[in-house]
Amino acid sequence: MILRNTIAGQVLLLLLYARHTFFSSAKTVASEQLSMALPEPRAYLPDAQNLDFVYHDHEELTRFLRATSARYPNLTALYSIGKSIQGRDLWVMVVSSSPYEHMVGKPDVKYVGNIHGNEPVGREMLLHLIQYFVSSYNTDQYVKWLLDNTRIHILPTMNPDGYAVSKEGTCDGGQGRYNARGFDLNRNFPDYFKQNNKRGQPETDAVKDWISKIQFVLSGSLHGGALVASYPYDNTPNSMFQTYSAAPSLTPDDDVFKHLSLVYARNHAKMSRGVACKSATPAFENGITNGAAWYPLTGGMQDYNYVWYGCMEITLEISCCKFPPAYELKKYWEDNQLSLIKFLAEAHRGVQGFVFDPAGMPIERASIKIKGRDVGFQTTKYGEFWRILLPGYYKAEVFAEGYAPREVEFVIVEQHPTLLNVTLQASKRVEGVGAGGPSYYRPMQAPQHYRPGGPPPYAAAASTENGIFSTISNGLNSLYSNIFG
Ligand SMILES: *[C@@H]1O[C@H](CO)[C@@H](O)[C@H](O)[C@H]1NC(C)=O
Ligand SMILES: *[C@@H]1O[C@H](CO)[C@@H](O)[C@H](O)[C@H]1NC(C)=O
Repeated sequence: MILRNTIAGQVLLLLLYARHTFFSSAKTVASEQLSMALPEPRAYLPDAQNLDFVYHDHEELTRFLRATSARYPNLTALYSIGKSIQGRDLWVMVVSSSPYEHMVGKPDVKYVGNIHGNEPVGREMLLHLIQYFVSSYNTDQYVKWLLDNTRIHILPTMNPDGYAVSKEGTCDGGQGRYNARGFDLNRNFPDYFKQNNKRGQPETDAVKDWISKIQFVLSGSLHGGALVASYPYDNTPNSMFQTYSAAPSLTPDDDVFKHLSLVYARNHAKMSRGVACKSATPAFENGITNGAAWYPLTGGMQDYNYVWYGCMEITLEISCCKFPPAYELKKYWEDNQLSLIKFLAEAHRGVQGFVFDPAGMPIERASIKIKGRDVGFQTTKYGEFWRILLPGYYKAEVFAEGYAPREVEFVIVEQHPTLLNVTLQASKRVEGVGAGGPSYYRPMQAPQHYRPGGPPPYAAAASTENGIFSTISNGLNSLYSNIFG
């Protein structure tokens, strides 16, 4: 695959991306090993010949990615999810022992860097992470385990146009934050709580399209300007006082989000100390915060990932200075190396499995909801699902059109993921038996999954005291589940 460095090669890679996403290319792999017994990942030995600790402009970044994919054809695949307004490719590098094909039963995860063009530390960290992975695969057991069991998709820059007009050494301010049309890409996604009237930008559309095609289990978005791991929700139903209130806006998976944020913060050299960047900025206990408790925002990427696709994304603010001088980059790498790796390994915590029909065929788009956690998720075309959960006892509701819904109980332990296969029986209708008759099948109410355009999650709950609003939002709920369910 020396073709990678040519135009024809890029076209071929785009076709491979398309094949991955549309035509069910996948391979089945041996069942998962465990990470618990592995030694900690070893330190990275930077190799300035391949990648120096300096900022790389778009051409240099492209050259590095192409050269790496040519050098490590068995571990990497390079594709573009689209172009920025000024025509720069939004490159994604997959790093995995199966770079070209999804491994059935194993999770896909991602990192997104530089959504704000003037916050480029993450962009450079992700290039070094790629270099670290490919150079450590054969010598580091932990990295080998991670790449053998996970497909890691890395988008080093979501906003290359903004980066192009940013200035090294500028710690604050907005120049380069926005895309070339002046839009803040982390305010440009559809929102769970409020209508977002911002016109969708090409960079945002590319990411939306990407995450609709690949089911990502876990994700991190890298920012600068603070030192904290921030988790959903970023927005809040209390929008009227949005500017003044900073109350937490918690998801039903708050325990998991806190845990994921702590994994990042505690493996970081400093983050969990929770020291304020400046005297005028907040100190975050343990280096984590709920997004809305810090400051609420509409149209953020992490809420979108979670609510629309069940992907657990958190926002990683990794440098007090947005665009620190290049000589500090090595230090940033040392601070973040372990966090970046350990966070991704969390995709292997919780429950995973398949939903089958009675003939043993996978059911695609079966809806799953963990009881008490009202944000649902769906199976892939191979019938796979994943959910990150902490140790405990859980019930899952599994529902698919044309099948009898099922409730399944399971236990999560610390040491390894719980494997859970669910077979759904076709729903039966007995002719000639009146409603209410004993053998007449009545589907239990389908779990309420939020769908884009649906009512906000707390609309119904908040209005239970109010008869009229309650009726309206229940009506909307059933309308949406009829249309989309
Ligand atoms: C890639 O994998 C193939 C098949 O396993 C092997 O023969 C080849 O040597 C590998 N190439 C590299 C560059 O590691
Ligand atoms: C679940 O189904 C998968 C795919 O067919 C299979 O590989 C796996 O062994 C099954 N696991 C259990 C626990 O039955």
